[in-house]
Amino acid sequence: MDRYAIQGGEPLVGEVQIGGAKNASLAILAAAVMTDSKVNIENVPDVTDVNVLLKAMERIGVKVERPDRHTVVMDSSNIDSCVIDDEYIKRIRASYYLVGALLGKTRQAEVPLPGGCNIGVRAIDQHIKGFKALGAKVRIQHGCIIADADELRGNHVFFDKVSVGATINIMMAACLAVGKTIIENAAKEPHVVDLANFLNSMGANIKGAGTDVIRIKGVEKLHGTTYAVIPDQIEAGTFMLASAATHGDVMVRGVIPKHLESITAKLCEIGCHVTEYDDAVRVSAPEPLTSTQVKTLPYPGFPTDMQPQITVALGLAQGTSIVTEGIFENRFKYVEELIRMGASIKVEGNMAVITGVQKYTGASISAPDLRAGAALVIAALAAEGETIIEDTSFIERGYEAFEVKLRELGARIERISSDKDLTKFHLRFA
Ligand code: EPZ
Repeated sequence: MDRYAIQGGEPLVGEVQIGGAKNASLAILAAAVMTDSKVNIENVPDVTDVNVLLKAMERIGVKVERPDRHTVVMDSSNIDSCVIDDEYIKRIRASYYLVGALLGKTRQAEVPLPGGCNIGVRAIDQHIKGFKALGAKVRIQHGCIIADADELRGNHVFFDKVSVGATINIMMAACLAVGKTIIENAAKEPHVVDLANFLNSMGANIKGAGTDVIRIKGVEKLHGTTYAVIPDQIEAGTFMLASAATHGDVMVRGVIPKHLESITAKLCEIGCHVTEYDDAVRVSAPEPLTSTQVKTLPYPGFPTDMQPQITVALGLAQGTSIVTEGIFENRFKYVEELIRMGASIKVEGNMAVITGVQKYTGASISAPDLRAGAALVIAALAAEGETIIEDTSFIERGYEAFEVKLRELGARIERISSDKDLTKFHLRFA
């Protein structure tokens, strides 16, 4: 199992280029099976979750080509099964997008219940409610969601809870349903909008994505398209927080600054300087960080996927901060690891009370999930001394070349697979 070795204490300085959004890519790749024509998707990040989804789609007969590292060409004209039977697919949450996509296209789907990061219960009742509203029969059997319909009919779907996944799933199925669907209390995340734009580029008729009411008029079929995925809001936010926590000065390039506003606002509040450009943000932190309060909320609120990263930065801020997790109930597991690095944090329920410390110190820790893993890397970069982070495969699920991009900003980080690698790391940096 690979680990990261990190020698902390250097501010990150320089420029970093952000890749395509993982979560938008997962939805778009799944949606691409809905047409029999060729689909060309650009700016797809080369990360494990994406690659696992593509492999599962190949197994049901989708032809997948990668003309270059970030372009995927898909031909789904010869799908020979609607049963996704792949041990590994269970580990990614986005597998369930294939339910909406296949149900829309073929009126049937059988997909293992989703896994993904262990950050809470992660129910799917809203997905099921939406599919049923469109006329599908849905059951859970032998660990799979099985959905089928003689006909899908547009309907009014009112979500009891804002859910990114349920909004995406119902939007996909409704595209090829007969008649009009109205989704109320829809998620407004940038990747929901990106998926709607992608589907519209294939001939779908979706209006209102990005607001809490989405209106979809079903069409008979979808055609091929060429589409570029939006930049990854969370990868960008992670580098912004890494600059803040290390008192660095980083130009984060290739982003949509509007998507980063809630993060930018918090960074300004805690004493960072943030300058927005057309497609870049520059974050520097010349002064000590100061405390604040953060609550994670659906977009445009502060993203839950940035909660561990801001907690790490606030652990080094003067005063007492409070971070409240408003989306997932089990997203503070990494705090134990951070405490081993010297943080002073008390978690009570969905709230972390953080008393800022002067510095973290390096330790042997492990990444409990994707975003927490990235946050612990930030802590290690800011810390005095050496940190070894185990289970870095979690991080690779969603960050492409994370350690390479960090090294280009001056970080002393290496991926190591053996004691020999660690010795080399010591010779280079210790
Ligand atoms: C998506 O997960 C993202 N995953 C997550 O990113 C992200 O944290 C999350 O949205 C929130 O922004 C992908 O896009 C693949 P939800 P999703 O449905 O769709 C509850 C990352 O690190 N809920 O919006 O699973 C649920 O339990 C990952 O990249 C129900 O109660 O999130 C949670 O409390 C982690 N019933 C809340 O809603 C349902 O039917 C939001 O979940 C569905 C959800």
